[in-house]
Amino acid sequence: MEKVVVIYDSKYGSTERYARWIAEELSCPLKKRAEAGKDDLKNYDVIVYGGGLYAGGVSGIRLLTGSGKLLENKKVILFTCGLADPSDPENVKHIRESLGKVLTPDMMERFRIFHLRGGIDYGKLSLVHRSMMGMLVRMMKKKDPSELGEEDREILRTYGGTVDFINLETARPVIECAREAAV
Ligand SMILES: Cc1cc2nc3c(=O)[nH]c(=O)nc-3n(C[C@H](O)[C@H](O)[C@H](O)COP(=O)(O)O)c2cc1C
Repeated sequence: MEKVVVIYDSKYGSTERYARWIAEELSCPLKKRAEAGKDDLKNYDVIVYGGGLYAGGVSGIRLLTGSGKLLENKKVILFTCGLADPSDPENVKHIRESLGKVLTPDMMERFRIFHLRGGIDYGKLSLVHRSMMGMLVRMMKKKDPSELGEEDREILRTYGGTVDFINLETARPVIECAREAAV
């Protein structure tokens, strides 16, 4: 599929696994965010962008937020990959609220947005990320448990360990959406 490109930003490989599979299924090029420039946006009609969730933000999303004009006549499909369970509407609400702070209202309306679940391996985290998570957990532990959302509880449950919630089949709607957009 020449019209479509999959671009991703992945720090520990979860988003990459989804992106790789999506590109394989679509038989389209796959590019790392760090290697993708504005030309990669110009040359394709359908852009699938995937990024990991870090403190509510989508990794590498500046490629999209900084290319508003260029994306006006493109079909953009955005997928996020985080630890929080996207089958919980509360979690999706949080992610979308954060997205709403960086994407324009027009982008929020036009972009097709999907949420996939990744994982975490504390043994592989960078020092900075490990201390960010440590700080977050210390803050959560000081709170009244009734104030914690499902997302917070998930972080507490998995803190220090390894979990992998990746299920490639959950990316099927992203693939279907890209196929429809490319017709
Ligand atoms: C410092 C840090 C912050 C994170 N913040 C969030 C978050 O806000 N929401 C979430 O669902 N997951 C969060 N995660 C979990 C990552 O999104 C998850 O590990 C994901 O699979 C990473 O994808 P990647 O390996 O492709 O970068 C965070 C992880 C780290 C290390």
